[in-house]
Amino acid sequence: MEIRRVTAEERLTTSYPLQAYAFDRSPLPAAQIEGWRDRLPYWAETRTLVAEADGSTVACVSAIPMRQNLRGTVLPMAGVASVATHPLARRQGHIRALLHQLLDEMRDEGHPLSALYPFRPSFYARFGFVGLPKARTVSFSPADLGPLLRADLPGELAWERIGAGYPAYRAFTEECLRRRHGFAVFDAQRAVAVRDDDNRWLVTARLDGRTVGAVTYRIDGHGGHLVADELLAEDPYGRALLLGFFARHIDQVTRITVQIPPDELPELWLTDFDVQVEARVNSPEAAAPMARLLSLDALTGRPAGTGRVRVELTGDRWLAGTHLLDGGSGQLEVTSAVAAGSSTPTATLTAAGLSALAYGVLDPVEVHLRELGSVPADAAAELRRIFPRQVPYLFADF
Ligand SMILES: CC(C)(COP(=O)(O)OP(=O)(O)OC[C@H]1O[C@@H](n2cnc3c(N)ncnc32)[C@H](O)[C@@H]1OP(=O)(O)O)[C@@H](O)C(=O)NCCC(=O)NCCS
Repeated sequence: MEIRRVTAEERLTTSYPLQAYAFDRSPLPAAQIEGWRDRLPYWAETRTLVAEADGSTVACVSAIPMRQNLRGTVLPMAGVASVATHPLARRQGHIRALLHQLLDEMRDEGHPLSALYPFRPSFYARFGFVGLPKARTVSFSPADLGPLLRADLPGELAWERIGAGYPAYRAFTEECLRRRHGFAVFDAQRAVAVRDDDNRWLVTARLDGRTVGAVTYRIDGHGGHLVADELLAEDPYGRALLLGFFARHIDQVTRITVQIPPDELPELWLTDFDVQVEARVNSPEAAAPMARLLSLDALTGRPAGTGRVRVELTGDRWLAGTHLLDGGSGQLEVTSAVAAGSSTPTATLTAAGLSALAYGVLDPVEVHLRELGSVPADAAAELRRIFPRQVPYLFADF
């Protein structure tokens, strides 16, 4: 078996057929296969590796060069996608070999983070990934938004197709990327697919000339549903302006659904608000995302509490060795553990364990309980100070 990187054009005959078999209804009509060529430009920056045996492609993996906010700092992130093996070649180690090479290359080229949506979390847990929370789907009747029709809100709304409003939308997602832990965006080439597909409305909320909220949506028919994508709001004004816009559909649709960050509490948005909040996670089609650190560079200089702990990293290809994590200056320093005194609390962590702490999704005790490391009480206290819990919101779906 040989691994090689394919060009954009080669995807049509190598990785796309495998992906189509793995993820689409199949066999595909010929017309749909011809449509693949139109999608190639969106993948121009994406790296695709294939495994070949006897002249045929037996497996493929891709990495989208993305950017993600980790505790306030925007870092390059490798978004893993298009992971598939030919049905006759499964369970022969092809994806293991491909993922190793792909993540080696992405890390060496400066991506200290990686994220993905798993078909089955335990598969990617073997590669050091840990679960992140899933965005919530909120569903309610527009009639319940009535009070917002009468509310005197500052700011104004703009309404257009996403094809026309894309530059403002992209700029606002970049703003969210700077502000929101966990938020991730595609590279520019990949991101414009939403503009070119042009199958969404875009409503934007502005306050004092600045965008404070944006949401894309579609309507499936008169008396039907308004199906919104992610409700992006910088503050409660932005959110109220967007919900006020939805309220104007009171006589047009019966139900509204919208995606929100995992730490939003819609039951507190209004009084007498009948609302359903849901995060359905199941394999393989309704995944919660996963992520991991590929390099300790991701941690250096991040804002941190005043803890000091030695961590021994174990069982991973990309994260290894014993390091001293010191948040004494308010910014995390990662140095050789030689400098640590023998009384320094020590934790043994897997890559998933350290990633869970860095992304703020697990308490050190949970890391221990989930068998992602061995964390004595004194080390847990230091790690808790260094990595306070924080809810990441990935946003990008890939
Ligand atoms: C999932 C899939 C990509 C795995 O590919 P593969 O080439 O068979 O995987 P590998 O042989 O490299 O397996 C890697 C490891 O995962 C394990 N594994 C393989 N399939 C697994 C599964 N379905 N569930 C859990 N573990 C699995 C293997 O035993 C192996 O473990 P080991 O290295 O400790 O022995 C392949 O079955 C496939 O194409 N499925 C359909 C598409 C899909 O679901 N893709 C993933 C999208 S996120």
